Amino acid sequence: MAVGMAISSADAGDGGGFAFDGKMNKFVILCCIIASTGGLMFGYDIGISGGVTAMDDFLEKFFHSVYLKKHHAHEDNYCKYNNQGLQLFTSSLYLAALVASFFASYVCSKYGRKFTMQVAAFIFLLGVLFNGAAFHVAMLIGGRLLLGCGIGFANQAVPLFLSEIAPVKYRGGLNILFQLMVTIGILIANLVNFFMEKIHPWGWRVSLSLAGVPAMLLLIGSFVIPETPTSLIERGQQNQGLETLRKIRGTENVEKEYQEIVHACEMAHEVKHPFRNLMKRKSRPQLVIAILMQVFQQFTGINAIMFYAPVLFQTIGFHNNASLMSAVITGIVNVVSTIVSIVLVDILGRRMLLLEACAQMFVSQLAIGSTLMVHLESTGSLTKITSIAVVCLVCVYVMSFAWSWGPLGWLIPSEIFPVETRTAGYAFAVSSNMLFTFLIAQAFLSMLCSMKAAVFFFFAVWIIIMGLFTIFLLPETKGIPIDEMTDRVWKQHWFWRRFMDHDTPGPSRV
Ligand code: BGC
Repeated sequence: MAVGMAISSADAGDGGGFAFDGKMNKFVILCCIIASTGGLMFGYDIGISGGVTAMDDFLEKFFHSVYLKKHHAHEDNYCKYNNQGLQLFTSSLYLAALVASFFASYVCSKYGRKFTMQVAAFIFLLGVLFNGAAFHVAMLIGGRLLLGCGIGFANQAVPLFLSEIAPVKYRGGLNILFQLMVTIGILIANLVNFFMEKIHPWGWRVSLSLAGVPAMLLLIGSFVIPETPTSLIERGQQNQGLETLRKIRGTENVEKEYQEIVHACEMAHEVKHPFRNLMKRKSRPQLVIAILMQVFQQFTGINAIMFYAPVLFQTIGFHNNASLMSAVITGIVNVVSTIVSIVLVDILGRRMLLLEACAQMFVSQLAIGSTLMVHLESTGSLTKITSIAVVCLVCVYVMSFAWSWGPLGWLIPSEIFPVETRTAGYAFAVSSNMLFTFLIAQAFLSMLCSMKAAVFFFFAVWIIIMGLFTIFLLPETKGIPIDEMTDRVWKQHWFWRRFMDHDTPGPSRV
């Protein structure tokens, strides 16, 4: 148990554990900013595809039937973008990321976080080349697959890097820094699309090529940042690990933390089959919650808005430029509200943010759905005032997502696992995110076409389910040291305690 406590406070330690002598210093901040550009790559991709797939030049060149449909006077508003190839363009990236993240977890532990980030940036840059130079739809999809591999690698390495390099008491905030970069990436992409839409016929090429900027930043920056002490020690480079720890903590007094990391790595070596350990009954609560947090995050319907915001706004009758502008507005709301989350998450707690957001998202989804149903006939368009109302409702919705299910979908899975199953468990959370992002991206335009405005009611029903889940099954984890989760959270919970083995607290080994 003593070992278990020591490990956890060094390894994760949000809200408790030992007070190590490390403070936030300029070098650590620089390292975190450089590494988070991985989040920028991810966000830029989320934001760019919707705008590009709404550009006439792009559609005319690669998706001619969509282009013709779009300009057909009597075409049904809700169906003009429904095309499997177009959806595949957006969603292929997530499928690739899903597969790549399993390889990435291997590379990450065998060759380190820094190397994994370099691989990520390199593959991503290849994808950007394919996309920017595309003259055939196969090149486009191939490029997206490469981008997806890059993202799979980056999303595996960057959050791990941030967690391992951050001083213990700032770890939570630095986790959400990754999500903040995701939202900034989405916003930048929306702005780029807003300007590139006016440049004919190659504006879309610039939009796709600029994805190379965050990847270049990550690649160049990765030569400046150190490998994490944990990764160095895990791979037998004890002295270098100690040196790096001194450097990032800005003090010679790191012995205690160093010893904790050494213990953590010894423990990690003893667990031969983390995935098998994860399948045991006592891991059920954490595993179920980690997966459901990500599944529910996607069933909020956020990516229906993020990927397709410009398409969606055009669907409800905005012109190209106005719709991209509206997407920029929602992007700004997304960034600002994520900052709100950084400030509030350790004050109000996770459950409070999630529940408040469920109520806010439910009301706004219902309002968007009914407004469109009443005011938007299949072939008509909205009046100016109704359009503005819809944009405002979308902002109310995005705002609540951004301070709740967005960042907490990543934060909660990272803080609920005991040390022996943490990385394996987190890998499940990441791959669930990619899988359900893929499913929503692939299905949304078809759903919009067949369900029309009722698609918003579909997501509203899910919001009720996730609200009930939060009330009954999600325990509060604010301020609880990670190593005490089993005793203070799972063993006390009315439902999950039946999965806990009361006799053997602390890590188990296989
Ligand atoms: C989600 C993405 C989403 C983004 C929006 C992330 O946490 O995983 O799917 O597009 O937030 O800000």
